[in-house]
Amino acid sequence: MSSSSIRWKAKRQFSSTTTMNLLLVMATLSLSLVPNVCVEAEKGQQKLLRFGEDGKFKILQVADMHYANGKTTPCLNVSSAAGCSDLNTTAFLHRIIEAEKPNLIVFTGDNIYANDTIDTARSLDEAFAPAISSGIPWAAVLGNHDQEGSLSREGVMKHIVGLNNTLSKLNPPEADVIDGYGNYNLEVHGAEGSAFENKSVLNLYFLDSGDYSTYHSINGYGWIKLSQQLWFENTSKSLRRAYMSSPPAQNATAPGLAYFHIPLQEYAMVANMTGVKLEPSGISSPSVNSGFFTTMLESGDVKAVFTGHDHLNDFCGECMGIDLCYAGGFGYHAYGKAGWSRRARVVVASLDKGGEGGWGGVKSIETWKRLDDQLLSGIDDQVLWSKTS
Ligand SMILES: *[C@@H]1O[C@H](CO)[C@@H](O)[C@H](O)[C@H]1NC(C)=O
Ligand SMILES: *[C@@H]1O[C@H](CO)[C@@H](O)[C@H](O)[C@H]1NC(C)=O
Ligand SMILES: *[C@@H]1O[C@H](CO)[C@@H](O)[C@H](O)[C@H]1NC(C)=O
Ligand SMILES: *[C@@H]1O[C@H](CO)[C@@H](O)[C@H](O)[C@H]1NC(C)=O
Ligand SMILES: *[C@@H]1O[C@H](CO)[C@@H](O)[C@H](O)[C@H]1NC(C)=O
Ligand SMILES: *[C@@H]1O[C@H](CO)[C@@H](O)[C@H](O)[C@H]1NC(C)=O
Ligand SMILES: *[C@@H]1O[C@H](CO)[C@@H](O)[C@H](O)[C@H]1NC(C)=O
Ligand SMILES: *[C@@H]1O[C@H](CO)[C@@H](O)[C@H](O)[C@H]1NC(C)=O
Repeated sequence: MSSSSIRWKAKRQFSSTTTMNLLLVMATLSLSLVPNVCVEAEKGQQKLLRFGEDGKFKILQVADMHYANGKTTPCLNVSSAAGCSDLNTTAFLHRIIEAEKPNLIVFTGDNIYANDTIDTARSLDEAFAPAISSGIPWAAVLGNHDQEGSLSREGVMKHIVGLNNTLSKLNPPEADVIDGYGNYNLEVHGAEGSAFENKSVLNLYFLDSGDYSTYHSINGYGWIKLSQQLWFENTSKSLRRAYMSSPPAQNATAPGLAYFHIPLQEYAMVANMTGVKLEPSGISSPSVNSGFFTTMLESGDVKAVFTGHDHLNDFCGECMGIDLCYAGGFGYHAYGKAGWSRRARVVVASLDKGGEGGWGGVKSIETWKRLDDQLLSGIDDQVLWSKTS
C-alpha cells in the first residue's frame, strides 16, 4: 500500500559524539541505584546493557503516562480527583522504580498528552524526570499523542534522544529511509566473565507504530510500515548470525522482545489471557494489517511483544508462539477506570547456568504487573517463554 522507496546504504561507522561520551560518563557516575552493573563503556563509545551477576535482567514497561503540565493537570477517572494531578504519575514512577530497581525502563508511547501541554519540551522533561534521576538507562518510543503539541514527531523523538541516561535513538544509522522516528534495537549481553559476555543474549526492538492513517481510504491508527519491517528483519538476521556462529556456537537464536505503542490486530486472537480486556472498544489496532506479526514469526527471535494504547487492557497471552502483552495505563491524566489502579509491567529474563558455574544464554522470561495501590501489589505473574518449551 505505501510505496515508500527504500534505499539502503553502506553501514556508516558508528561515530560517537562528545555529547554521547558526556552522557555516558554521567550515566556511569549516577548508577548508584542499580546493584548489578548493567551499563558500561564499550570501547569508550557505546553504552552496553548486560545481565547482572545474579543472571537476571529486569525491564520495567511504562505505558501511556499522558503527562501534560504537572500540578495543574487534572486526573481522569479516579475515585477522588481531589489533590490528584500529573504529580501522582510522577510519584508512581518514583515508587515503582525504587521498588523494582529495573535494569532498563521502557516507555511505550503517549508519554505526554501533547495537546494539553503548554510547553511540550518541558512536559517531556518532567514526564521522564523520575527515570532520568534514577540513573537507570531508559528507552522510549512514540505513541499517537506525543506529537500533538508544539513539536513534530521528529521533534519529540529528537528531544527524547537528547535527554540524560536514555538509550533511545532517532533511527538506525544503516537505514537511509525508514518510516517514523524512534526505530532502534538494543542488545543485552551475557553476564560479565561468562562465555556469553560479548554476545547479545536478549534482543530488544523498539518501533514507531505511527499515529494515524494518512490514507483517505483507510481510517484509524497508523501501522508499522514495510521499511521498518525490512530493517527489523535485517537486524534480527544479523543478531541471529552473531549469536549462533561466534563461540560458543548455538543451535538457536537468542530470544527477543519488541516494544511499541499500538497493538497489532493479532492481539484480538489471544484466547488464553492472563489479565483483562476491559476496553469497551476491544483492541484499538490499525484497520489494516501490515504483516509485522508474520515478519516477527518468520524472524524467529521475538518471543513477546509489549504495547500500550488501550489503557484498560492489561493482558498478556500467546498467539501462534508469540506472547502479546499490554502494560495497562500508567498515567493519571490518561483515561482509566475509577477504582481500577494505574499499573505497569515488569519483565525478567533469567540466564541458564552454563558449564563450570558460569552463566549461559537466556533460560526463561517471566512477567508480572504492579499496581499503584498502597502495597504496589504484584499481580498476574506468568512465564512468557522458556528455552525448553
Ligand atoms: C543489516 O544490519 C547490519 C547489522 O546491523 C548492518 O551492518 C547492515 O548495514 C544492514 N543492512 C542493511 C541492508 O540495512
Ligand atoms: C494523588 O496524590 C495525592 C498526594 O500524595 C494523594 O493525596 C491522592 O490520594 C492521590 N490520588 C490518587 C487518585 O491516587
Ligand atoms: C486539541 O485540543 C483542542 C482544544 O481542546 C481540540 O479542539 C482539538 O481537537 C484537539 N486536538 C487533538 C488532536 O486532539
Ligand atoms: C543532564 O545531567 C546533567 C548533570 O547531572 C545536568 O546538568 C543537566 O541539566 C541534565 N540535562 C537534562 C536535559 O536533564
Ligand atoms: C570479550 O571481549 C573482550 C574485549 O575484546 C575480551 O577481552 C574477552 O576475552 C572477550 N570474552 C569472550 C568470552 O570472548
Ligand atoms: C546442538 O544440536 C546438536 C544436535 O542436535 C547437539 O548435539 C548439541 O549438543 C546442541 N548444542 C547446543 C549448544 O545446544
Ligand atoms: C493459559 O496461560 C497460562 C499462563 O501463561 C498457562 O499457565 C496455562 O497453561 C495456559 N492454559 C492453556 C489451556 O493453554
Ligand atoms: C472516564 O471518565 C469519562 C469522563 O468523565 C467518562 O465519560 C468515562 O465513562 C469514564 N470511563 C470509565 C471506564 O469509567
